[in-house]
Amino acid sequence: MAENRTLRKLTAVLSADVKGYSTLMGDDEEYTINTITAYRKIFAGVVEKNQGRVVDSPGDNILADFSSALNAVTGAIEIQAALGTRNGKLPKNRQMFFRIGINLGDIIHKDGRIYGEGVNIAARIESLADPGGISISGDVYNQVKNKVAYNFEYMGAHAVKNIAEPVRIYRIDLKREDAGKTIEAPASEPTSFLKIFKSYLTSKKAVLPAFDTTGLKIQQEASKAEPDTDAIEKMITCDPSLTSHVLRIANSAYYKGINKVSTVRVAIVRLGSQEVANIAILVTQKRPFQSKDPYINKVMQKLWRHSVGCAVSAQWIANRSGLKTLAQEAFTAGLLHDIGKLLILTATDEIKRTCTIKQMPSGDLLEEVMDKYHTVYGYALLRSWNLPDHYCGIARDHHKADLKKNNDLMMMVRLANITTNSMGIGLKGAEPCVLVVTPEADYFELSEVDMAELEIKLEYAKVFS
Ligand SMILES: [Fe+2]
Ligand SMILES: [Fe+2]
Repeated sequence: MAENRTLRKLTAVLSADVKGYSTLMGDDEEYTINTITAYRKIFAGVVEKNQGRVVDSPGDNILADFSSALNAVTGAIEIQAALGTRNGKLPKNRQMFFRIGINLGDIIHKDGRIYGEGVNIAARIESLADPGGISISGDVYNQVKNKVAYNFEYMGAHAVKNIAEPVRIYRIDLKREDAGKTIEAPASEPTSFLKIFKSYLTSKKAVLPAFDTTGLKIQQEASKAEPDTDAIEKMITCDPSLTSHVLRIANSAYYKGINKVSTVRVAIVRLGSQEVANIAILVTQKRPFQSKDPYINKVMQKLWRHSVGCAVSAQWIANRSGLKTLAQEAFTAGLLHDIGKLLILTATDEIKRTCTIKQMPSGDLLEEVMDKYHTVYGYALLRSWNLPDHYCGIARDHHKADLKKNNDLMMMVRLANITTNSMGIGLKGAEPCVLVVTPEADYFELSEVDMAELEIKLEYAKVFS
């Protein structure tokens, strides 16, 4: 009965295959079949001894599962040792080497078989292992690093087809058993990625995020003492995608409209030309925030939510602190302050796509590069878009420690940035912070109640993302 049920459980998956199996078969079919049959028996015996189970063994593949990552790794080490001894007795051209990959994941068990992305990841790790060697995922490594007397070598984070995040892979050094220490990723990794990245940006083939001027033109018109409604309507309606987005947002809970807004004209009358301009900027600016690479796309979506959160917050701060004339610019400055991160993500995507680098930089490395360089690249990008100086300056200086308290727009964006990050609307997890005691909140004399109100406003603003 239980066999037919679908069960999900944390499982260590071991995937193995033979290096050059078809060549061995082509050379001597009978000899190869005898060898693999004998080796499968050794495999099965060691797996069983370590409380695992061979799930499947088609052709030269072997798939096994274990309820413990340590058992899987110990078993794999014993298998390679036993097969190594057997290979020593065979002529060189008849030796058979297995590559072994181990992953730990939430696996679906059904009818004695196993399914799920954890199995695919194990197979991918196996394909990157040395013949006669063992490679493991970062999750397996975390479980066994202090429990086996072998060295581990970090091999970088590798993309796996259809899996959003790259997988960190470690190789077990089977020759050295003096200590269970990790050989860290080569110190040159960030430098080499950075080198490729920098030379890409200065090359002619660099593809940078483009700036759609429509939103800004609409905003310029809306900021006039007497905005030309016809002109705003025309700029929006000649872009069908912009029109449909403006109408969708104008009808969202954020604006709490009672009657349906069915035309751009009604949206302008109902929401006011400045709000419609904000929506237009959001819609046109969102376009470059997308990638076919699932991991980069996920980071871009987080960055977009953060940018929108900062735009809405900065505008709210302007209005609340009596600086209404800066409200529109605060919105745009908030939206663009981290644009350097978009540039870094777009460039990484392009470098990856054109295969200048074979493997993705790890999430940690990408984050490090974005943290360090987004202000300088953001400044350069906004300059290349010919945006006014104050936007460029904010992109460059919004993290500066020596804070000059004479730039209202900058302070608005800084406070907006701290607020969104504290709510977890950023690339990292929530960075809790008592907002009201920050120098930025103090600068605008905002109270605890004000800051709580801003947090509520941000909840509503999720409609934009
Ligand atoms: Fe930033
Ligand atoms: Fe930011």
